[in-house]
Amino acid sequence: MKTIIANWKMQLSLKESLELARQSAKKIRRGRNKVVICPDFSALPFVGPILKGSGLDLGAQDSAMASRGAYTGEVSPFNLKALGAKYVILGHSERREHLHESSVIVNLKIKAALQNGLIPVLCVGEKSEIRKNGETEEYLSQELMHSLKEVKIKKASDLIIAYEPIWAISTNKNARPMSASEAAAIHKFIKAKAAKILKKEVLVLYGGSVNAGNAREFLKSAAIDGLLVGGASLKIKDFSLICSL
Ligand code: PGA
Repeated sequence: MKTIIANWKMQLSLKESLELARQSAKKIRRGRNKVVICPDFSALPFVGPILKGSGLDLGAQDSAMASRGAYTGEVSPFNLKALGAKYVILGHSERREHLHESSVIVNLKIKAALQNGLIPVLCVGEKSEIRKNGETEEYLSQELMHSLKEVKIKKASDLIIAYEPIWAISTNKNARPMSASEAAAIHKFIKAKAAKILKKEVLVLYGGSVNAGNAREFLKSAAIDGLLVGGASLKIKDFSLICSL
C-alpha cells in the first residue's frame, strides 16, 4: 500500500471543491492505497464531512507556526485537527517561492503541526539551475537539515517527506516529470539523510507532473512510497485511476 496525496492548491471554487469531494468519496477505490485529499482552507470544513466513512483522509495545504496567538491570517494546526484533518502539507515550493517561506519557518510549522497530532508532509525539491549545476544533493541536504532541525518524532509514520523537483511541477514553464529511476535514486538519498536527522525511516513521496499515464512507473519503484499529485488530482477519472494502481 502506498500513500497518494491530492493537492488541490487554490484551483477550485468552493462549489467545485464540494463536488470533487463527493465524486472522490464515491469513485476512489478503498483499501488499495492510502489516499489523502487536501482542499483549500475555505473548503476544508465542508470536505471533511463528505469524506467521512469513505476511507479517504483529510489534509490541509499549510498551517501556522504556532497553535494560538497574534498571527493575523494564519490557520492554527489545533483547529485543523479539530476539523478532522490528519495531514498537513508544509513548505510547498509555491509557498517558498511566492510567499518567501524559509526553511526556518517551515521548521516551526512542522513542530507546531506535530504538537497538535497532525502528520506534516514536508516538501523539498530543487530548481532547474541547481540540477543543471549538479548541486541537487547538496541543496536537498540543506533543505532537510534546516526544515527538520530539532524535530522529534516518536514513530516513522509521524512525518512524511514529499520530493518535488520544482522544474517538474506541472504549472511551471517547460515542466516535465522526472524519470522514475532518477526519482528513485534521489528518494534513497533523501531517506538516508532524513533517517540520520530523525533517527527514523520516514516515507518519501514523489510529486511533479504525475498523471494517469506515468503514475504506475513511480509506484512500481520500491524506493518511492507514494505520490503528491496536483493537476491530475482535479480530474476524478485520472485521480481515481492513479489511486487504484
Ligand atoms: P503537479 O503538482 O502534480 O500538478 O505537478 C504537484 C504539486 O505541486 O504538489
